[in-house]
Amino acid sequence: MSSIWEQMRSLLFGASGSYADAADTPQGLAFEQRLVARHGNTLPPWPLFKLGAVYGVGPVPPNLRALLDGSFFLIGACLGTAALFDFAGIIGRRGGGVTAAEVAKECNCADVNAVGRVLRACENWGYFESYVPRDCDSKSVSNEQRLWRNTLLSALLREDHPHSVRAQIMHLYVDIFPASALLFETIRDTPSNDVETDGLRARADASATKQPSAFERVHQCTFWEYLSSHPDRWDVFNRAMRSSDALLGSTIMKDIDWGRYLRVIDLGAADGSLVYHLLSAFALKAVIFDLPPVIEHAKAYWNTSPERSAMVASGRVQFAAGDLFDATTVPAAEEGDIYVMRNIWHDWRDPDCIRIGRSVRAAIGDVRNVKLVILEASIDQYPRGSLLERFRVALDQIMFTAFRSKERDRIEFDALLRRCGFQLTEVRHLRASLVAVIAEPLSHWVQSPEPADQ
Ligand SMILES: C[S@@+](CC[C@H](N)C(=O)[O-])C[C@H]1O[C@@H](n2cnc3c(N)ncnc32)[C@H](O)[C@@H]1O
Repeated sequence: MSSIWEQMRSLLFGASGSYADAADTPQGLAFEQRLVARHGNTLPPWPLFKLGAVYGVGPVPPNLRALLDGSFFLIGACLGTAALFDFAGIIGRRGGGVTAAEVAKECNCADVNAVGRVLRACENWGYFESYVPRDCDSKSVSNEQRLWRNTLLSALLREDHPHSVRAQIMHLYVDIFPASALLFETIRDTPSNDVETDGLRARADASATKQPSAFERVHQCTFWEYLSSHPDRWDVFNRAMRSSDALLGSTIMKDIDWGRYLRVIDLGAADGSLVYHLLSAFALKAVIFDLPPVIEHAKAYWNTSPERSAMVASGRVQFAAGDLFDATTVPAAEEGDIYVMRNIWHDWRDPDCIRIGRSVRAAIGDVRNVKLVILEASIDQYPRGSLLERFRVALDQIMFTAFRSKERDRIEFDALLRRCGFQLTEVRHLRASLVAVIAEPLSHWVQSPEPADQ
């Protein structure tokens, strides 16, 4: 939908369609130049400007908006810093009413002034709220004298909040943000390696799989290798994955009929938090499958609560260490199984997804009544510019930065699944941010001898 500014320009310019119809024409640019020549900076009269730029009612000058958008990454850095230092936890544990100096002291920050400015930057986006102490004159109070408390949003940066996003924000800031600065070079220097979805053919460039992601350029290793050699980062990443359940978990329980299946095999399960939610709600059995070090971590996690320990002791939960690229390690199917991969395919490039899919298809073999469900933030499901679609394109960029992979649309899933011996049967919208891509094994599928990336 076009903004008020665009509508005004369309009217003045006499464009019959949307502003976009005129924006790229020489006449469109000449019109903008005439506007500037006649009216200077083309900003609206002060009252109208103030309404839009100060109170958010009415038009915001587009150049102000564009500059703001271009500096978003700094707000991300401020939120990341607040999460790392645990500003929200410090303020919350003291019951609010804390000065920046007190926050700085508790988290061992030397620069008190900068702490206050980070809090102030966050405040402008709805995180944290400052107020003037009772005995101070509001006109002469400095930022350092102000008292800080949490808001609905900043409270989510607390570790102990049931919907905490702290680990996710820390992961984004420490692991993704520095690499994201190489987006430009990554795109400029190396070609893509995606499967051409229309004809089900992959690019002939077999070396394309090896093109590094921005993260790989920075760290000279893959994301998973990096995490393996940095246990502290693994810990944050695992916590981030677990906390995403608060956004995703309950809707996944309700929007898919899990009761129809006998056993869930969660591939790339991390510590198995999805399995835990599923087994709490349905009379299912489950297998938690991941890389060997992750499975060790998962076993420890399942020992930390009596309820989870009981599920393991009763035999409802089994652990399987392996590699998605080695079909012999993927748990073999039994009738009534459902294989689940939540946020797995988006970590991998097309040729790798085909290899993973083929491993799963080989593990299913001729066993009947088995399904595969891929839970991902499929792209282009909602209008562009909507909050959900913005969230999904952000995820798409995170995947590109970390893995040079992507969020996919239905056409892409369909093409990849067919190359691994599956037939896409349904793309079901879940609430929150995921879709369920449900597939059945093709019955007479014989694994093609062609490599996945040719
Ligand atoms: C983005 S996390 C998703 C975790 C979990 N499914 C969830 O939704 O919370 C990706 C998972 O894939 C696992 N993984 C990565 N490479 C793998 C491989 N080659 N074989 C098995 N699991 C792998 C990682 O250890 C990690 O737990």
